[in-house]
Amino acid sequence: MKGSIPDDKIEEIRRRADIASVIGEYVTLKKAGRNYLGLCPFHHEKTPSFTVSPDKQMFYCFGCSEGGNVFSFLMKLNHLTFPEAVRQLAGKVGVIIPEKAMSHQERERYTLGEQLRRVNELAADFYVRMLQSRAGQKAREYLLKRGIGESAVRAFRLGLAPDGWRGLAGELEKRGVSPTLAEQAGLLIARTGTSRGHYDRFRGRLMIPIEDADGHVIAFGGRVMGAGEPKYMNSPESPVYTKGNNLYGLARTREAIRERDFAILVEGYFDLIALWNAGIQNVVATLGTALTRAQVDLIRRHTSRAVALFDPDEAGRKALARSLELFLAANVHAKAVILPDGHDPDTFVRERGRGPMEELLAHAWPMADYYIEQILGRRGTLEEERDKLREAVAFISRIENSAERDLFAKRVAEQLRVDEAVLNQEIRRHLQGSPAVQAGPLQKMADAEADPLELRLIQMMLEHPARLSAVRESGVIDGFRTAALKVLGESLLARESRPVGDVASLVEERMAGPLRDRLLKGLVGESPYPESQIDQLMADAIRKIRDRSNRERSEILRRRMKEAEKANDLELLSSLSLEWQKLRLNKEGAA
Ligand code: UTP
Ligand code: MN
Repeated sequence: MKGSIPDDKIEEIRRRADIASVIGEYVTLKKAGRNYLGLCPFHHEKTPSFTVSPDKQMFYCFGCSEGGNVFSFLMKLNHLTFPEAVRQLAGKVGVIIPEKAMSHQERERYTLGEQLRRVNELAADFYVRMLQSRAGQKAREYLLKRGIGESAVRAFRLGLAPDGWRGLAGELEKRGVSPTLAEQAGLLIARTGTSRGHYDRFRGRLMIPIEDADGHVIAFGGRVMGAGEPKYMNSPESPVYTKGNNLYGLARTREAIRERDFAILVEGYFDLIALWNAGIQNVVATLGTALTRAQVDLIRRHTSRAVALFDPDEAGRKALARSLELFLAANVHAKAVILPDGHDPDTFVRERGRGPMEELLAHAWPMADYYIEQILGRRGTLEEERDKLREAVAFISRIENSAERDLFAKRVAEQLRVDEAVLNQEIRRHLQGSPAVQAGPLQKMADAEADPLELRLIQMMLEHPARLSAVRESGVIDGFRTAALKVLGESLLARESRPVGDVASLVEERMAGPLRDRLLKGLVGESPYPESQIDQLMADAIRKIRDRSNRERSEILRRRMKEAEKANDLELLSSLSLEWQKLRLNKEGAA
């Protein structure tokens, strides 16, 4: 579904966008010959099989068979519709899509998200101004006391929500923002009862804007300065903000995460800001909820290594076990740092400085080892040991990879001093009761039932669209046996008059299953059809297919002629024989 964005705009965007740099924003790519290689964002792997071909402006993963062009990449990764992906990219490459081209519904949806971000941006600006104004004196002192410097204040756009009830409300009114929209963004609250109008949600708080991965403000955290309840007031979730799908700070810190090739995971806004302030910038923070798989996936777009900082209490240990599970499932190499008693990352780095913090990071425990040795390994009462065993069984059962599961079971059996066979039996019992794991890995699909000659020709057509006219003139596609390839061949020929036919997207649209995978794989890989021989090879394939279909056709004709003879149908007989002769002539002419 192309929505109503004009085709030439779509083409222009595709031409301007370089697939390697678009994908490079999400996946760390390394040059490998003409292509780039990286860890696939669509499945979890340890060795890179995700391939990007700048020549063909397509991607393909040899591990999970996801593939396509730059639009399909954005669609899959960010769960966008086609028009949304096109628009997102349009903004990046500076192509303007005429507004009229949008359907009414699209415009509504598009602008709601846009408008919510815009209101949040306006609010962020307002709060920043307030912090820098005379009214911000006390708040600036508070930040100073916490050791947060000018540059961190600027980088994180820290601000101040003033004390009154209608500071922001008045500002937004002045700028013509509808209060209902601001309410939807969570910035204003509607009065109830008989009174009308809206008032500020955030009052007298230090404001921390929360940005999405692209750096748009989507929500706020507001901290009381000094004592008071609640410590933080946060924006409610909205169409642009879900806590579990975002990581605080990521837009500011992703470069550093890529550079150092690991992400530090903390819990608090101020933990992140304090680390950043001390010069440790490859940090992300969860948003007041337990780590989610979506957040791990966000991290994994930039690095496959994480170090999580945990508090040394029971809650910290619980959080560690839960995160370990997520990191394991996502194939992220995770390490854990348990901070000294009474510290969080903010207080630690402020008191001791950057050096000791780096030291802690450098000596982080592999998270799995920590879990097994320090959490499961601690001796306790019989009751506690039994609880740990139960917890460990549940934990191990959730490990998807069976080899890893075995490895874990072995180590855990040692730690808990139980018989390995007994532990494994418990795990099997647990697995049988849990349908999620039982479903197991995806079944490998059987290879395509495609005619090999036709497949060859189609592959050459895809790789050398300039040579399509030879195929068209031969009429050979009519004789294709493989229906799917026939359809694809026909649409390839129909495409020639259109601008830069993007073959990868055509394959994606028209094909399915293993045949589609195979074609995409072929496209991204080294071509077995050298440019210098392509004319020869194509002519060869065309001739062979034509000979074959002529043979088949002539057999059919001969059979029908025999039948016509038997039935004494002279009229049919003569027309069939005419056709047969033509076919033979044709064959000789082609030979
Ligand atoms: P912390 O209490 O550790 O906060 O909560 P902090 O960021 O270290 O703040 P300071 O140092 O006391 O100023 C960790 C995170 O949990 C969420 C926030 O995201 C916070 O950063 N939280 C905490 C809330 O959302 N509401 C609260 O009342 C408390
Ligand atoms: Mn703190």
